[in-house]
Amino acid sequence: MSKTHDGAERTAHRRLLAWIDEMAALCDPDRVYWCDGSQQEYDRLCDEMVASGAFIRLNPEIRPNSFLARSHPSDVARVEDRTFICSRREEDAGPTNNWKDPREMKEILRGEFKGCMKGRTLYVIPFSMGPIGSPIAHIGVQITDSPYVVLNQRIMTRMGQAVLETLGEDGEFIPCLHSVGAPRLLGEPDVPWPCAPNISDKYIAHFPETREIWSFGSGYGGNALLGKKCLALRIASVMARDEGWLAEHMLILGVENPEHKKMYVTAAFPSACGKTNFAMLIPPKGFEGWKVTTVGDDIAWIKPNPADGKFYAINPEAGFFGVAPGTNVESNPNAMATLYANCIFTNCALTDDGDVWWEGLTKEPPDHLIDWKGHDWTPGSGTPAAHPNARFTAPAAQCPCIDPEWENPQGVPISAFLFGGRVSHHFPLAFQSYNWEHGVYMAATMGSEATAAAIGQAGMRRDPMAMLPFCGYNMADYWRHWLRIGRKMVATPPRIFRVNWFRRDEHGRFIWPGYGENMRILKWVVDRCNHCGAAIESPLGWVPGYDAICWSGIDYSRSDFAAITNITIETARQETNDQEELFTRFGDHLPREMEIERELQLARLYHSPEVWDLSAAAQTG
Ligand code: GTP
Ligand code: SPV
Ligand code: MN
Repeated sequence: MSKTHDGAERTAHRRLLAWIDEMAALCDPDRVYWCDGSQQEYDRLCDEMVASGAFIRLNPEIRPNSFLARSHPSDVARVEDRTFICSRREEDAGPTNNWKDPREMKEILRGEFKGCMKGRTLYVIPFSMGPIGSPIAHIGVQITDSPYVVLNQRIMTRMGQAVLETLGEDGEFIPCLHSVGAPRLLGEPDVPWPCAPNISDKYIAHFPETREIWSFGSGYGGNALLGKKCLALRIASVMARDEGWLAEHMLILGVENPEHKKMYVTAAFPSACGKTNFAMLIPPKGFEGWKVTTVGDDIAWIKPNPADGKFYAINPEAGFFGVAPGTNVESNPNAMATLYANCIFTNCALTDDGDVWWEGLTKEPPDHLIDWKGHDWTPGSGTPAAHPNARFTAPAAQCPCIDPEWENPQGVPISAFLFGGRVSHHFPLAFQSYNWEHGVYMAATMGSEATAAAIGQAGMRRDPMAMLPFCGYNMADYWRHWLRIGRKMVATPPRIFRVNWFRRDEHGRFIWPGYGENMRILKWVVDRCNHCGAAIESPLGWVPGYDAICWSGIDYSRSDFAAITNITIETARQETNDQEELFTRFGDHLPREMEIERELQLARLYHSPEVWDLSAAAQTG
């Protein structure tokens, strides 16, 4: 019997059928199953997962049709060390990516994949990033041996038979091969979360020239849901370079003022730095009549529109794969409302009444929980009950603040790009670039404190455009692409801003209230785009003075503001000098504009310190 037994009934796409045949022969699964994307299929797979112990059904009265999965304790985040860009030439991957020769990598991976699905089902998942059939969407077909991945992909993408119909007999698709890397031995019981136990057996490999993805050994998030980081960022960034658009690690939001004037902005923050929160922001007291709506919380595909000279952005995803810890009815009520049903929770804690819990959900933790490793937990346990990178998978359509245009295939017009990392000290709350080149430089030199996926990287790391782990080619060529696209492809490029919500005091406490209060900065951004916001020239860019921010509804003094805005000229010089180290890594690939912008900034910082005193500026603004 052919391994693709019902494939020919589902599609007449010869290349696709041949690829499935070839991969099935390599992986040697017990059976091949083509996903149709239906609710019945979803429900049936959930039931199977519950029966096998891989899913726990949550209390249907509290959280209907929702499930908890616990990963293997070694498989809890993306593995950046094991992520590879396999371009033919090493310099096309660039110094910030792990590179391997594509032939060598294929040989290694063929060895790993050989027989890796023994005892398992090979699932074929046709999926669309972007609304099915829309001109901006791209289709992928993922092979996986993980039913957990199938279920998550059904929430995160548009998936199933409709995609095959759109693909027709000869449509383009990106082949995405995935295995958890744990063949099941005859007669042995399965484990709830199979994966390759050793980190050195995990590979997240990308072949940018042939536009293929091979992922082995992990079942978690971005390692395994291949439409997300692998396709929609790493491979798409290469497609975007070749075709003249941008694939970015950005949220997209709409902001409407009391006069119903609406604007869209995107924001690039590194992983776990507040994209989901900002995308679903609820305007605070003092902002009555303002409204924020969500288009996307993680990825933006941004295309220039020659007709009106603007960038238009779409969210290629259909769900949110969000960080659970810290999410609560105060920090993000819209996310909490989105999670009311039909969700998958991974590595959260389980309550005695069959609901999920995580650090920060409630002020007081429950007296008893089952933690993310499946052990009894009490507040005295001394370990987190949920893993810090515990996540929810939720349908975007369930979000109460979802933007009415979120599925518009034309996208939404973008007025501003925000860039922000997680910086505890010596970094201002917000500033605006002088122009496009300066903005690209500001975004390229962004730094942030390390998160879950970057193993062993303590302290600050440069994370250009929040794309360090996601750019599928040489980062300096990517900057060149940014410079060109803003200059040549659109008449009015968006304004560019840097923001930082994460400054702390000497006791380690955040000194900016953040969350909904970030609306105050968003309003300043909107004002700047509308040519009605005040700003002061500084060596770093245009900074808001105290009086340029709306403080209605909050008690925030000039000295509080100075503490969050000021940096000493000395630290700014130090930072700008340090950027040379990043730039020199790229050799000839570095666009000249980048070094020119750095030197201009140094000149501003060295030549007129008395005029450029940010603290004085903030006081008198
Ligand atoms: P990925 O999904 O990993 O790409 O990340 P994300 O940027 O969407 O992360 P998310 O919004 O889930 O960020 C979660 C973390 O940011 C939590 O620790 C939040 O508490 C924290 N956070 C979000 N907004 C703010 C803020 O305004 N101020 C502070 N101090 N923390 C914030
Ligand atoms: C990120 O790490 O930026 C995420 C989560 O959005 S994952 O999909 O696991 O990469
Ligand atoms: Mn992300």
